[in-house]
Amino acid sequence: MEPIDQATLLEGVFERIRTHFACNGYREEKVREWLTPEQISESLDIAVKDDAIDADELLKLVDQYISMSVNTQHPNFLQPLWGGLSAAGLVGEIVTVLTNTSVYTWELAPVATLVEQEMVATLGAMAGWESVEGTFTTGGSNANMLAMILARDQAFPNAITSGINGSELAVFVSEDSHYSLLMSAHVLGIGSEGVIKIETDIDGRMKPSALQQAITECRKTSRTPVCVIATSGTTVRGAFDPLEEISSICKSENIWLHVDAALGGACLFSSKHSHLMKGVERADSLTWDPHKVMGVPITCSTLLTPHAGALMNTCSYVESAHYLFHEPGIEYDLGRTSLQCGRRVDALKLWISWKAEGNTGWKKQIEHYLELAEYLEDEVNKDSMLELMSSRTFTNVCLRYRPQNLDVTELNNLNEAIRQKMIFDGNFMTSLTQIKGQTILRPVICNSAVDKKSIDDFLSEIHRIAKDV
Ligand SMILES: Cc1ncc(COP(=O)(O)O)c(C=O)c1O
Repeated sequence: MEPIDQATLLEGVFERIRTHFACNGYREEKVREWLTPEQISESLDIAVKDDAIDADELLKLVDQYISMSVNTQHPNFLQPLWGGLSAAGLVGEIVTVLTNTSVYTWELAPVATLVEQEMVATLGAMAGWESVEGTFTTGGSNANMLAMILARDQAFPNAITSGINGSELAVFVSEDSHYSLLMSAHVLGIGSEGVIKIETDIDGRMKPSALQQAITECRKTSRTPVCVIATSGTTVRGAFDPLEEISSICKSENIWLHVDAALGGACLFSSKHSHLMKGVERADSLTWDPHKVMGVPITCSTLLTPHAGALMNTCSYVESAHYLFHEPGIEYDLGRTSLQCGRRVDALKLWISWKAEGNTGWKKQIEHYLELAEYLEDEVNKDSMLELMSSRTFTNVCLRYRPQNLDVTELNNLNEAIRQKMIFDGNFMTSLTQIKGQTILRPVICNSAVDKKSIDDFLSEIHRIAKDV
């Protein structure tokens, strides 16, 4: 078999990038063609074989892959906390792959190192920190886990060498916090019993008085508080925990405060909305995912801290990794502040996107998303068959279809059926979730292709489907 014709392959792929990207904004096509695993396996030749295939056959597979994927740039894609694709973000991703390096040493990634340092410093400065250490992680979940490790290592410095019994530790999170915190506690040996869930108020915000009480109670047990994790932009409701009050408790109790702003961090671009995170400057660490509301391609997540040396203390293994870290330039080696060894340059797509947007562009984008979310909220409030299921603060709008005379179980079943048919029909995608036992639909506005028409059409689609189910 001849080696693959690289020119045909690359030209074919560039053509597909152009056409796929140009589809951005097309409403005529489905967001997702519903196919069963069997249907996909029957039509796509998934198995790899002894024999190679040529460029044209490979391009056919690429076409099939694209056509069977969810179109996350579609104006009716309202499902997760991310979506859309900008040309600049795409370029950043392509150049990252083209230059294919690992950002663990200065030697192998000189310019990438400076780009990452600049992005970390700039995001940290937006949180109000003069000096900042940080790293890009494989997602907000792992940024949260790294924060928990930093907090543990600060509270128990010997944990790094002697280890520690996790069942003697406790972390405090809101009952609406992301599930990754449970997983982090599992990984750290703390276990779910050491994750103390603090009650939220009617708007889904952690209650500071309940937090104070839980810490006081915990101190009477064998568990030692390690950190409080507040959320800025909860996964379901988009609620922002009151950071000023929570940080005061943490300071007086001498407990590390981590802020999970994976979703909400982008509010800091807008003077109109940055008050939501007032008090973040008093936190000890912060998760911020530019791959969420900022539309940078997945994954692009950061863990930031104002504590100089904290990451290095936890992550630096220079002597053991003598094959990696060398002079000159060892002080620039970012592998010493990361849980990973080999690591993609996820900072590049953020940097290129930021250059293309400027602070002004990000501000406009976040304000536009929140205007659209407010529009959706208003339309729901005007509609007698729909019910807003939580106050709206950010990009998430929690709603359900509510005809009269149905009990909770019937309403839950109805809304589940609506969402299932919506996904099967493929014209829209939105999340199905729960608030205190009530099943809801949770559209999120964080895709630059979404506009008022998407929202009007989405609400009409709910009505249309509700008549059928
Ligand atoms: C509040 C919050 N934190 C953390 C995460 C986890 O982020 P990732 O999906 O990047 O791991 C999410 C994801 O939705 C989230 O909503």
